[in-house]
Amino acid sequence: MSLNKIKKIINKKEKSKIVCLTAYSKNIAKLLDNQCDIVLVGDSVANVLYGMKNTNEILLETIIKHAKAVRLGLKKSLMVVDMPAKTYRSISEAKKNAKSIIKKTKCDAVKIESNKINFKIIKALVKANIPVMGHIGFTPQFKKKFKIFGKTSLEKKKLLYEAISIEKAGAFSLVLECVSESAARLITNKLKIPTIGIGSSSSCDGQILVTDDILGLSGFYPKFVKKYLNLNRLIFKAVKNYKQDVEKQYFPLKKHTY
Ligand code: KIV
Repeated sequence: MSLNKIKKIINKKEKSKIVCLTAYSKNIAKLLDNQCDIVLVGDSVANVLYGMKNTNEILLETIIKHAKAVRLGLKKSLMVVDMPAKTYRSISEAKKNAKSIIKKTKCDAVKIESNKINFKIIKALVKANIPVMGHIGFTPQFKKKFKIFGKTSLEKKKLLYEAISIEKAGAFSLVLECVSESAARLITNKLKIPTIGIGSSSSCDGQILVTDDILGLSGFYPKFVKKYLNLNRLIFKAVKNYKQDVEKQYFPLKKHTY
């Protein structure tokens, strides 16, 4: 665990944008390491890699396995691991599971989704020297229906209260998922810790997206995702070429043979 890296992330607020992406494997982690301030082993692994309907199905031991692999590929970036659903319902459960994640994966911090009342869980983890990243707005572990948060002034007030409570509990950063631009701006301006947006406009201190989405591999492209590559198409072409080579006996050649 590196507290220095966490300080550096906090210090970036108002100076330069914080770059974050997700990783679930060593090879992807290696590719992200020199470019990202934060790499998140997200519970989105449930939908993205396992085809599960929602993130609630992912088990603690599965996240830990992926995080161990990611650790092998990361040297520079801050490594954050999502605490899966139902692993932090009480202070004792949260402490036991967060300690296990940190011990087994050697990550720098854990991420916890807010259910608007679990601030005391964050406080207890921070008190136990476990750095925590918060997560508000659309929090898939607690909300079934997708929507944009912070559109009305009442919603904005509630979100701001939630964000301030998480900061007070000791979190070192806060993910804002699918929050309106005006709410994101309000929260980012009020908090001392950095906000990391996903679908929450440029009015955040940093941005996070799911790596498989930006590579065009997941097939999930909501409005807030920018696709930088069409990896699906490239893989399809490569596999088609391989199929033709095998069928026409263009592969393997002498140079591929022992
Ligand atoms: O699980 C995840 O990938 C997340 C996001 C913030 C991208 O929580």
